[in-house]
Amino acid sequence: MGDKCEANMHKNVCDLKAMVNAQNKRIDELIRFIKEGSKTDIPQEMTWCTCNLNPYLECLNPDILYHLNLDTKTTDFPKVFGDVRFVCLGGTGARMEKFANFIISEIGLKLSMAVELRNISADGHRYALFKVGPVLCASHGIGGPSISIVLHELIKLVHHAKCQDPIFFRMGTCGGIGVEPGTLVITSQPLDGQLRPVYEVVVHTQPQLRPALLDQALAKELIALSNPCEDGYDTILGKTLCANDFYEGQSRLDGAFCGYNPQKKMCFLQQISQMGVVNMEMESTAFAALTNQAGIRAAVICVAIINRMEGDQINSPECVLKDFDQRAQILIARYMRKVLFKCDENNVETCHCDDAPGCP
Ligand code: URA
Repeated sequence: MGDKCEANMHKNVCDLKAMVNAQNKRIDELIRFIKEGSKTDIPQEMTWCTCNLNPYLECLNPDILYHLNLDTKTTDFPKVFGDVRFVCLGGTGARMEKFANFIISEIGLKLSMAVELRNISADGHRYALFKVGPVLCASHGIGGPSISIVLHELIKLVHHAKCQDPIFFRMGTCGGIGVEPGTLVITSQPLDGQLRPVYEVVVHTQPQLRPALLDQALAKELIALSNPCEDGYDTILGKTLCANDFYEGQSRLDGAFCGYNPQKKMCFLQQISQMGVVNMEMESTAFAALTNQAGIRAAVICVAIINRMEGDQINSPECVLKDFDQRAQILIARYMRKVLFKCDENNVETCHCDDAPGCP
């Protein structure tokens, strides 16, 4: 038998073993759950990864998370990342570094002043990754393909680290549809450019439509934590159009190319507004589809930096955009405090959080 043939056979055996192992594990978990019934909770990891993830991961030793510049041989994932409860993603490394610094004080971490926040993935030269206690902060770049790559690796990261039921957030900016700039938008349902609630992945030349679903209960919990009177801005729930492009894909008139006129543009915006679409951005369908496929609870929170019914160009001053940028961060921090310290700041009666910073 030739070397190549032997190598192929070895690979097939390895593949089969991985599949059988993953299925056996899942069957064992289900049998245990059925036998013990209501006496036990569904094992935490069953609520998200074990059953849905790639069975061939078991064959990888080490698994190299290339774009995050991490691998399972040189990093002890359970030790380094096992305590992660929240994974927060945003477009740029700078935004996520700022968020990581903000979260340190918001959740009362006593990080020694001597310890500088470190970009764990700096040497990968693609994405930024920061860890502050139970919070991972990662950049995702622009668009579906970019966020999809980092999500594959972050989902593998929380899987290898055996994280317990992590919650994923995407925070960012968006164009509002009939919505005041500065409004915080929580996505109820992302839609793709053809107004379908899916993320299309082409595999072996064939388009596959993956359901782009977000956790509705989480979205409502986030809305409940907003306080328009005190915040000074609205937080709303609505559908999001996720485009593959900033210009023509979002019916702008200011791209390098434009094959329609202002009337066509307004007609399109009115049409999607009537369907309940309140904003446009570029990552929500991929984010929702990948987290949903892994069974991970997830939410998308974006601040509108323009009302697209009134224009296309982003011309707010830098200081205004900076203020807008903090709004999703503030809401996510409130949610984290609520989960970590059982602290509901809108309902002082239920707040048990002597050590929670900023709580009444
Ligand atoms: N991000 C987008 O994708 N579109 C906008 O209009 C603003 C931010």
